[in-house]
Amino acid sequence: MNKVFIATSLDGYIADENGNIDWLDTFPEINTVDTGYHSFIEEVDGLLMGRATFEKVSSFDIEWPYKKPVFVLSNTWTELQGKFSKDAVLVNGTIKEVLEYIHKQGYKRLYVDGGSLIQGLLKEDLIDEMVITVIPILLGGGIPLFGELSKKLIFECKESKLFLGAIVQNRFVRKRT
Ligand SMILES: NC(=O)c1ccc[n+]([C@@H]2O[C@H](COP(=O)([O-])OP(=O)(O)OC[C@H]3O[C@@H](n4cnc5c(N)ncnc54)[C@H](OP(=O)(O)O)[C@@H]3O)[C@@H](O)[C@H]2O)c1
Repeated sequence: MNKVFIATSLDGYIADENGNIDWLDTFPEINTVDTGYHSFIEEVDGLLMGRATFEKVSSFDIEWPYKKPVFVLSNTWTELQGKFSKDAVLVNGTIKEVLEYIHKQGYKRLYVDGGSLIQGLLKEDLIDEMVITVIPILLGGGIPLFGELSKKLIFECKESKLFLGAIVQNRFVRKRT
């Protein structure tokens, strides 16, 4: 079971052209609202994160923010870099190889984070659920959440929430026939 919990701009980007995510605070009051992140995290066994997202998290002036095991996928790094290098586990290989390895460690319900990584799993139809919070700002460019696929994938919207009268969050579950 692979799940996504992510925020996008209205035009579908997860970061702007410089890789920045400061626009996530366009409505700063959102940080005072329970958008379901903590209950989402409670329901997963661990995280699979793209190397670029790990680097981004490492660049923030914060403590390690995850309580569940984090696996960082990179096929260029031979060891994790940065101040959180001891907090996560580096994995490499194809997506299928990496998932098999993580499953063998006993982590079956995964939170997948990072645009390229999510796209990689979607290409192999390996995403089961996506909670997407849409910040109503048009960035005009940046890092997209979605990309090319080898086949069309149908999802059902199981839940829709409006926060602050401004921000919509939809929960999509893959419809497999
Ligand atoms: N809006 C949000 O909620 C949100 C959430 C998460 C991230 N972000 C932002 O998104 C940006 C990072 O996303 P991103 O799309 O650039 O990168 P990403 O998915 O975090 O990381 C991509 C890297 O993962 C590794 N990887 C290895 N195998 C892969 C495969 N089969 N498919 C895809 N990736 C594979 C590669 O690392 P190697 O090159 O080392 O092999 C690849 O360069 C950051 O700016 C971050 O702040 C935003």
